[in-house]
Amino acid sequence: MTTKILGIETSCDETAAGVVEDGHNLLSNVISSQTDLHAATGGVVPEVASRQHIHDLVPVLEQAAADSGYGLEDMDAIAVTYGPGLAGSLITGLNAAKAISYSLGIPLIGVNHLEGHIYASWLAHSDLADDPGFPLACLVASGGHTDLLLMEGHGRYKLVGRSRDDAAGEAFDKAARILGLGFPGGPEIQRVSQGATGEERLPRAWMKDTLDFSFSGLKTALLHMAQDRGVYPSPQEGTDAARLVREMAAAFQESVVDVISSKLISMASDYKVKGLVLGGGVTANSRLREEIVRRSPLPVVIPPPVLCTDNGAMIAACGYFQFKRGEETALDIDVDPGLPLG
Ligand code: KG4
Ligand code: ZN
Repeated sequence: MTTKILGIETSCDETAAGVVEDGHNLLSNVISSQTDLHAATGGVVPEVASRQHIHDLVPVLEQAAADSGYGLEDMDAIAVTYGPGLAGSLITGLNAAKAISYSLGIPLIGVNHLEGHIYASWLAHSDLADDPGFPLACLVASGGHTDLLLMEGHGRYKLVGRSRDDAAGEAFDKAARILGLGFPGGPEIQRVSQGATGEERLPRAWMKDTLDFSFSGLKTALLHMAQDRGVYPSPQEGTDAARLVREMAAAFQESVVDVISSKLISMASDYKVKGLVLGGGVTANSRLREEIVRRSPLPVVIPPPVLCTDNGAMIAACGYFQFKRGEETALDIDVDPGLPLG
């Protein structure tokens, strides 16, 4: 008999649900993105996001069950993100999960969104299974976090590095806004950077003797460069804006990639880990993936891009390991927008 878990994710602007068998076998993964809705405002408006989750959640759940070939009544447990994230968005998913758990009489498993990003790797590499060889060095880089976590075993983490100001994803989003690109910024910066010659360079915030990060100075440096080159606040006449934006976007991306990959590799060596695990929207970035693999002497596990950004399957995969440890969550659990990991 296999264990089937339904995972629900609504922490930000993706309404998502997925079904996973035995913590690694992905049966379905349905994601309804609100990107177009938030593009008009250049960022996520919390109330708009919550209301869109209310609208999309039932159809997404029905599709996730249908794609898996099973019914909701066949699930062994319901896993759901209860933090960190936007309170109103989290509440929609958590309440739906409670209703399913209560009506079907199956366990509710509350999952930390950041831990879910780590477990996306279990979906991509079934050979990780129960014993991947611990400790592992984990990078979770998303819109709200840039965390280096030492994973000492399933469910056991130590936070050894984090951003002291903007998260990497937030920095990508702000940089894109400075350069007049769309939302979300990460994929846009990656796209326009292609073909850059590398003639522009931005500083790196190395923050000596710590594994912590800082990205807000880089954003300011980019803003000054964009003003100098005449593309901010809007391109001046006679400037070759497309070329300048391409070079500045690439310079920004290279600075972020250089600092993150170098700190992750030094953490892996400091803590004598057995391997590296990447997760979170920013780890969908092709330059970051390429550079970490190039610099790492150890095996690197990276989910495909669609599992790096928010999804329900990663929550189901993470929930499976909690379920196996008997960690059932009480039905009166509240959301925790600032929930830490490690
Ligand atoms: O993990 P995620 O989907 O949601 C959060 O938990 O925040 O991450 C979203 C973030 C956004 O800031 C987005 O710009 C960034 O991930 N992102 C990327 C790429 N794809 C998404 N950043 C850089 N390169 C990408 N290809
Ligand atoms: Zn996320």
